[in-house]
Amino acid sequence: MSRRLALITGASSGIGKALAREYAANGWDVALTARREDKLRALAEELEKQFGIDTLIITADLAEPSGPETIVNAVAAAERDIDALVNNAGFGLPGTYTQTTWKQQSDFIQLMFTSYCELVHRVMPGMQERGFGRILNVASVAGLSPGSRGHTLYSAVKSALIKFSQSLHFEGKAYGIHASALCPGFTYSEFHDVNGTRSMVSKMPSFWWLTAEQVAEAGYNAVQRNDPICVPGLWYKFMTGLFQVLPTHMAMWMMDRNQAKFRAAEKPAETAARES
Ligand SMILES: NC(=O)c1ccc[n+]([C@@H]2O[C@H](COP(=O)([O-])OP(=O)(O)OC[C@H]3O[C@@H](n4cnc5c(N)ncnc54)[C@H](OP(=O)(O)O)[C@@H]3O)[C@@H](O)[C@H]2O)c1
Repeated sequence: MSRRLALITGASSGIGKALAREYAANGWDVALTARREDKLRALAEELEKQFGIDTLIITADLAEPSGPETIVNAVAAAERDIDALVNNAGFGLPGTYTQTTWKQQSDFIQLMFTSYCELVHRVMPGMQERGFGRILNVASVAGLSPGSRGHTLYSAVKSALIKFSQSLHFEGKAYGIHASALCPGFTYSEFHDVNGTRSMVSKMPSFWWLTAEQVAEAGYNAVQRNDPICVPGLWYKFMTGLFQVLPTHMAMWMMDRNQAKFRAAEKPAETAARES
């Protein structure tokens, strides 16, 4: 039997790159997509050499409404089926809601929610026909927290992804399809450099930080086991568990108090977002 294929979005860096390595190490062929072709090509060469698998590279911008169709057509043109879909591409907008433009917010929704939903919608019928599928949506502990001051839509979108994944988990059962939401906390990647919050988050305690490899391994194992939700790391399991049992107003108070400590350091990033 030929190897199964995993499509990984946002594979050029961070968690997506680590997930691509995790799938390849477990004997999957991988289709890697993002905007930076040079990064994808370097990763593909490395994975082919190290694990003896086949790779596909697809450059696409998932903030463009045509992005998901471009990607799925490219896989079909290579005469491959998508057996695992890893929806991971993403970024964060710094600052508060009104300090950003609507264009920034609508691109954010297109990339971080609409493209995830469309890719599942395009890929899942084939999985149903073949009686096998794995869908991993990269959400965040932010989706399990009581909102946040700034980064306003981020936790809302991640929360929606968690609910979406849970519903897919139910729908997939009759077809041999596993669906999971992966909810990392702070993870070393390019994420905080891209959104200009590196100086703020570098003040976070070291035990809050996960490596992309830890997150990827936990996510891969979770979707293989068909866990509907995966929160890597003991600290984040505790924190998100606490948020589920505390009364909402108390959880919001705790969140606000904690974020106040880091707010001053965020000012330059807010200004940068407003000016871009
Ligand atoms: N790092 C954290 O602390 C953390 C915590 C919780 C959840 N997450 C989530 O984890 C996921 C991955 O983030 P990361 O931490 O690995 O960040 P990262 O290192 O910045 O990687 C983001 C990936 O998304 C791709 N991407 C960004 N905009 C894109 C676009 N318009 N079209 C296509 N691809 C695009 C980037 O590739 P190109 O630039 O080459 O296009 C890159 O491969 C995100 O969904 C994020 O919300 C991260």
